[in-house]
Amino acid sequence: MKALILAGGSGTRLRPFSHTMAKQLVPVANRPVLRHVLDAVRQAGITKVGIIVGTRGDEIRNAIGDGSAQGLDITFIPQAVPLGLAHCVMIAKDFLGDESFLMYLGDNIIREPLSGFVDAFRDSGADAQILLSQVPDPRQYGVAEVDAHGRITALVEKPSEPRSDLAVVGLYLFGPAIHTAVRSIAPSARGELEITDAVQWLLDSGHTVLSHRLRGYWKDTGRVEDVLECNRVFLEDLEPAVLGKVDDQSETVGRVLVEEGAVVHASRLVGPLIVGAGSTVTRSLVGPYTSIGSDCRVEDASIGYSILMERVTVDGVRNLHGSLIGRDSVITPPSPACGTNQVVIGDHSRLQICQH
Ligand code: TTP
Repeated sequence: MKALILAGGSGTRLRPFSHTMAKQLVPVANRPVLRHVLDAVRQAGITKVGIIVGTRGDEIRNAIGDGSAQGLDITFIPQAVPLGLAHCVMIAKDFLGDESFLMYLGDNIIREPLSGFVDAFRDSGADAQILLSQVPDPRQYGVAEVDAHGRITALVEKPSEPRSDLAVVGLYLFGPAIHTAVRSIAPSARGELEITDAVQWLLDSGHTVLSHRLRGYWKDTGRVEDVLECNRVFLEDLEPAVLGKVDDQSETVGRVLVEEGAVVHASRLVGPLIVGAGSTVTRSLVGPYTSIGSDCRVEDASIGYSILMERVTVDGVRNLHGSLIGRDSVITPPSPACGTNQVVIGDHSRLQICQH
């Protein structure tokens, strides 16, 4: 079985980050989301992987490599324009051949081994199997209707009156019939070839589509809030270690990972948290649920429930919370003389300034 990972797309919900980076490379617990995805695929015993990439393909190629270090054989498949999830299947036909495959949205993270899902499909002889998760408000998801035998009877995209609480998770298993399905559907109102339409085509033409219920954690990291929440969940399982230096004026509480070359001076680190390689933390309070990327500088600051990407400086700023801070950003207070707040931020940024 092969895997097809979708890492193109436009990432409008994750602006401004998606203006300057592939959203699948946003770090969760200091590792790109796509790395977590590849780990899950490898754990399921799948080694031949196709990755759909869009305009940020070179960046993804550079970050991920050819996969040989992880025992993976990766083929990158360019998609010139993000024309939809079913379009991804269409352009991957030569890579996939007539084998069954796992299709995995490259911005989705699950924390449960995939082998149960994959093995059940192998044994079933079905044409497709879709991973479902029970959600409190199904209206914002693709929703599946399932019969007593676990067969899917209908898929409805973002229904105003959902007939079940089972949302379609971004993982699918397909047999070769999906190739006929994606060629048989027309673009939707938003101009995309929708995978839900392709699956509905399978259902309408008498194919068997099974469901598999996911019991564990799943997150679509499409929005900033989701990335932060996912980071929190991953940090809960962090293996604590001090590989860098924490001086004796500092205190660490809970699960704290201080990576190689990081230096912590006169600070309090409240886990779970990571201080990335080569970063310095000085006279600061950090944590909990915080990932500091590599080569950052945090000084006279307090920061919690946040992610700092590489080479961020936070100097002299207190009470940073719920923040996702892009690479090479600098956050400092205004100089006392100017009495104003200065911001230099890119398009689609969000800034909340405390006035007290
Ligand atoms: P989405 O998150 O549904 O779409 P998007 O990336 O365009 O984001 P937004 O809604 O915020 O604008 O895509 C799910 C995954 O599939 C994601 O990893 C991007 C990828 N994808 C492709 O590779 N090609 C495509 O044509 C589309 C639509 C998505």
